[in-house]
Amino acid sequence: MKFKAVRLYSEGGQRVSRMVDQTLADLDPGEVVIKSQFAAVNYKDARAVTGVGNVISRFPCVPGVEVAGTVVESADPAFKAGDRVTVQGGREFGMRRDGAYSEYVRVPAAWIGRVPEGSDAFDMVGMGLAAYTSAVAVDELVRHGVTPDKGPIVVTGGTGGSSSFAIDMLAGLGYHVVASTGKASETEYLKKLGAEEVIGRDGLTTGDKPLEEQLWAGAIDVVGGAPLDKLLRSMKKRGVVCAFGNAAGETFTTSIYPFILRSVSLVGVNANHPVPERGEVWKRMMPGGDLHPRHLQDICHTIPFAELQVHCERLIAGGVRGRAVVSFGD
Ligand SMILES: NC(=O)c1ccc[n+]([C@@H]2O[C@H](COP(=O)([O-])OP(=O)(O)OC[C@H]3O[C@@H](n4cnc5c(N)ncnc54)[C@H](OP(=O)(O)O)[C@@H]3O)[C@@H](O)[C@H]2O)c1
Repeated sequence: MKFKAVRLYSEGGQRVSRMVDQTLADLDPGEVVIKSQFAAVNYKDARAVTGVGNVISRFPCVPGVEVAGTVVESADPAFKAGDRVTVQGGREFGMRRDGAYSEYVRVPAAWIGRVPEGSDAFDMVGMGLAAYTSAVAVDELVRHGVTPDKGPIVVTGGTGGSSSFAIDMLAGLGYHVVASTGKASETEYLKKLGAEEVIGRDGLTTGDKPLEEQLWAGAIDVVGGAPLDKLLRSMKKRGVVCAFGNAAGETFTTSIYPFILRSVSLVGVNANHPVPERGEVWKRMMPGGDLHPRHLQDICHTIPFAELQVHCERLIAGGVRGRAVVSFGD
């Protein structure tokens, strides 16, 4: 059987992705073969496909860190043909071992989660790592005592996949959400998700002093770099910043004063957990849970597999709203 996959190659110091014909013998070993139905496009997937950075650490490799579909064969009794399953997260799939951008994937059984009753493959991948990471960040804010009465929560990179879910979830829990974005034209979208206010990227702070006007009780930051410094200097007393992204930069310089004079906390989030290890937060994201996104259909749109590489170029250039889900068709 022949099928299509996108593979990343390392050639003469360059990383190049190509759509290629494959057979199962080309894929990494594993007990379970899945026919792919949907795969997500995260920021790191776009970096991998376009050859930016070091997301992929083995060559050649099929990128893509999230897929959902149907089991076609299994050497592990825990799964049988026809089971609806998803593979997401962990440090191997789509980075050191063949991943999601393939019409068939093969993985160890231990990486696989089931699609629960009441959900489907699209929902699983649509939410995926983006919604799960935002849910973990929202949970951290709550655990650190940031309740809705404390004041506004700002979310950076507002129109991005993860941030869109953060806005949706925070608004659903009754927070006053302020979305920061570089895309003023997407104000209506951000308000539909639940943002009470939409500000530009330069609205995160009021000036350049080490301590600026106290604006935010909490923040979810997906961009890092200089905007993270602006946030820290503009937090209210005991404010909490949950940071999990690097779209604006991998490093930043800041002042000690927000920490020692306003007791501001900076909380890092690494949510790269495989589905079988996601626990309570993942359950709360399922239909009926308090962290279930209310605007999944507004946030996610499907693209055909053939358009994956072009879409990844656009995402890296910052020209994408929400979250793309690759459809493999029938
Ligand atoms: N730690 C973890 O476990 C974890 C898990 C998932 C994702 N992440 C990270 O979270 C970040 C977001 O991921 P994603 O998949 O949601 O990405 P995404 O869909 O591309 O969203 C990123 C958003 O950031 C904003 N942005 C892009 N370039 C920027 C720049 N140069 N300066 C300021 N803002 C910029 C854009 O929003 P606006 O145009 O609206 O401003 C963009 O939509 C990535 O860095 C990703 O690696 C980390």
